[in-house]
Amino acid sequence: MRTSEERLRYLDSLREAARAGGGAARLAKQHASGKLSARERVELLGDSGSFEEVDPFVVHRCRDFGMGQPEDLIPGDGVVAGSVRVDGRPVFVFAQDFTVFGGSLSETNAAKICKVMDLAMRIGAPVVGLNDSGGARIQEGVASLAGYADIFLLNTLASGVVPQISAIMGPCAGGAVYSPAITDFIMMVRGTSYMFVTGPDVIKTVTHEEVTKEALGGADTHASTSGVAHVVADSDADCLLRIRDLLGFLPSNNREDPPRRSPKDPVDREDPALDRFIPENPNQPYDMKTLLASVVDDGDFFEIHADYAKNLVVGFARLGGRPVGIVANQPDFLAGCLDIDSSLKGARFVRFCDAFNIPIVTFVDVPGFLPGTKQEFGGIIKHGAKLLYAFAEATVPKVTLITRKAYGGAYDVMSSKHIRADFNFAYPSAEIAVMGPEGAVNILYGRELAAAVDPVEARKEKVSEYQLLFANPYVAARKGYIDDVIHPRTTRRRLIRSLEFLGNKRDTVPPKKHGCIPL
Ligand code: HXC
Repeated sequence: MRTSEERLRYLDSLREAARAGGGAARLAKQHASGKLSARERVELLGDSGSFEEVDPFVVHRCRDFGMGQPEDLIPGDGVVAGSVRVDGRPVFVFAQDFTVFGGSLSETNAAKICKVMDLAMRIGAPVVGLNDSGGARIQEGVASLAGYADIFLLNTLASGVVPQISAIMGPCAGGAVYSPAITDFIMMVRGTSYMFVTGPDVIKTVTHEEVTKEALGGADTHASTSGVAHVVADSDADCLLRIRDLLGFLPSNNREDPPRRSPKDPVDREDPALDRFIPENPNQPYDMKTLLASVVDDGDFFEIHADYAKNLVVGFARLGGRPVGIVANQPDFLAGCLDIDSSLKGARFVRFCDAFNIPIVTFVDVPGFLPGTKQEFGGIIKHGAKLLYAFAEATVPKVTLITRKAYGGAYDVMSSKHIRADFNFAYPSAEIAVMGPEGAVNILYGRELAAAVDPVEARKEKVSEYQLLFANPYVAARKGYIDDVIHPRTTRRRLIRSLEFLGNKRDTVPPKKHGCIPL
């Protein structure tokens, strides 16, 4: 029979073994490669000292390849799991420990991840997964694959119930990528993380293409080319801080409202510069982010997908202390046209906001959908429909401001009154019409202009006639499609007031199992 003293010593030694993970040499290698350990990451993610661990004593059950020897049974089995507090609110977390079997996923290690996801759903708290793993634990074969599938199922069931954030902080390859892919946001660390379904060697064998890991699946590739990554961080510490920032905009679950802060920025602050901000020349670009920064609380904008489909800007901000999702055309890139990538980016963001009760504020300056065979062959019809569907389906408060162009189908799509936006505003510079003056005049008066004595002068006349008649906000305002035409300097106040009014908004969709969004 052991004494109490011995029992406590045994417990301490087990805890010490769990803390040591794969040992000092492997930890040093982890640090040397510019990465923090799983425990250091968890500590940085949470408020100081808030980590509560679960399952530190779990070990694998594999007896193959000589495994099962004491040195192979590392308490915790390669994943550190539990809960932390972020700004005082509970968040569940798991961090794969690359120093233990390369962070590979075993049956028991998967069960730990499932346990925290299950707890998160029961309690209604976000899940953050810190990924750094060589994939399926090779020695465990199908048991490991089963573990992945268990996680994929829970990721799917938790979707829309609690926010799920994945940070890729090392390798993430093969089928393992699909757990992060189902979650709401993927953060990647520049230089130390990569994600791909098949790596460079397989690609070389099958397609004879030569590509490095970084070019194939590094952070910048996924942030700008594939759109798989939502946010790129410069280091582990930066990544964890950004996750904390992001969580600050999100409710803990789908039954809560997002957390409000008392605004330091005066709610009635005006910016006179906005009155002259939109260029007189309708074809001159401007940076929509400058306008956003002037309007939102303290200019604080947490951009999602900053380097992907830059013609549409999406992200989180606060207005009067209330978190909002912002969707904005960007005239500075592709003239703000909607295309396949921006439609996908916007649709996904709008649906996230709707699932988690985050009001959507839409800034519109869109000349239409991007023309061209690349877009048509790529299916702009079905992809553009996703954005339309997402806005139409959303029942959260929706406020829209047209700053300049709102042409054609893109007018309807960008959270117009007709698809249930609650308040629709326009600047005096707004042009709401089926198409721009040049195109319209060509179609309406092409023959007449060709036969004119002075075609250039005749065209000018027709263009200014069209502008006067249609390229303004007042036709729409007279019909009530625009609730008010506002002075740009008052934008912040008008948006905040609208959102206050909409605080108790309740809207529904007809009962159904789920809609069939055109995927
Ligand atoms: C078991 C693994 C492992 C794995 C790495 N290790 N991957 N152990 N199963 N999948 C172990 C190594 O044996 C080594 O142990 C330690 O982790 C560190 O690995 P190194 O190779 O020394 O590290 P590094 O040079 O940094 O290379 C990292 C790596 C490489 C690129 C991830 O280890 C690698 O290619 N691993 C295999 C990747 C893979 O093919 N996984 C299966 C993919 S299929 P010691 O004891 O020496 O420290 C898959 C299917 C998922 O995941 C399906 C879901 C549906």
